[in-house]
Amino acid sequence: MDSSSYDYSENFSIVHGMIMYKEFAKYWDDVEAFQARPDDLVIATYPRSGTTWVSEIIDMIYKEGDVEKCKDAIFNRIPYLESRSEGPMNGVKQLKEMSSPRILKTHLSSEHLPISFWEKNCKMIYVCRNAKDVAVSYYYFFLMVSIHPNPGSFPEFVEKFMDGQVPYGSWYQHTRSWWEKRKNPHVLILFYEDLKEDIRKEVKKMMQFLGRKPSEELVDKIVHHTSFQEMKNNPASNYTAIPEKVINQKVSPFIRKGITGDWKNYFTVALNERFDMHYEQQMKGCTLKLRTEI
Ligand code: A3P
Repeated sequence: MDSSSYDYSENFSIVHGMIMYKEFAKYWDDVEAFQARPDDLVIATYPRSGTTWVSEIIDMIYKEGDVEKCKDAIFNRIPYLESRSEGPMNGVKQLKEMSSPRILKTHLSSEHLPISFWEKNCKMIYVCRNAKDVAVSYYYFFLMVSIHPNPGSFPEFVEKFMDGQVPYGSWYQHTRSWWEKRKNPHVLILFYEDLKEDIRKEVKKMMQFLGRKPSEELVDKIVHHTSFQEMKNNPASNYTAIPEKVINQKVSPFIRKGITGDWKNYFTVALNERFDMHYEQQMKGCTLKLRTEI
């Protein structure tokens, strides 16, 4: 399938210049008007950057390592703010009904995050992952989640990714928007690659940010419960609670490979060169340096 033949209008709309799922876009006013509470914690990411991993870690921190309290599906424990569907995921409604302290997930850039979170000085964690591994993971996400049009071949999809012609728009703008907030004391920026390299260190960092005293025993429990294999097998975190007609995990599992550097299996030399050149242009003047291998 040629990438030019995608029919984006069937599944997507445009919100503030960004491609968005049609169902979500229909109720965007509710998202923008969302009322934060001062003790809300926001987990923000560009899709496929480790949202679910960090969400499970944070919930374990909040529940002080009590696995029994983390048995419900992750999208019930940590609602997806802008999500709207006939099914269980209706972020605004879930959050309104939830008692404090709430943890929520969003894929919005810092510019598109509802203003109330900034006004209430809520704590926010942004998880960032190198763009090449995100592109690979996003490609598989397109294939497994039925709401997406056929992404065509991987190189065709990468063109769309570079152009920001995917839900949540440009990775470059998204990442830059949050990097600009790095000096805000309420914002913690984490990197998927750092989590892969030294998970204990990163868990302790999250605990400190949340004002919790890290104990080695609790860190052990969290690291075990949120390991790739545990999360892959855990029905509360692996999205198998979502019907196959919505997420077909036979095509690709939601918790897929969990490595850094998978892009090397997908980018040809020519595509890699093209991507690097485009990356340089898009990230010009930005001090953020991401690792594409560890
Ligand atoms: P891959 O597709 O590269 O495997 P998100 O939750 O933001 O959608 O991110 C999904 C990505 O995070 C997937 O990447 C998934 O495998 C990875 N992931 C999820 N849980 C993980 C874990 N415990 N350890 C490492 N990677 C994990």
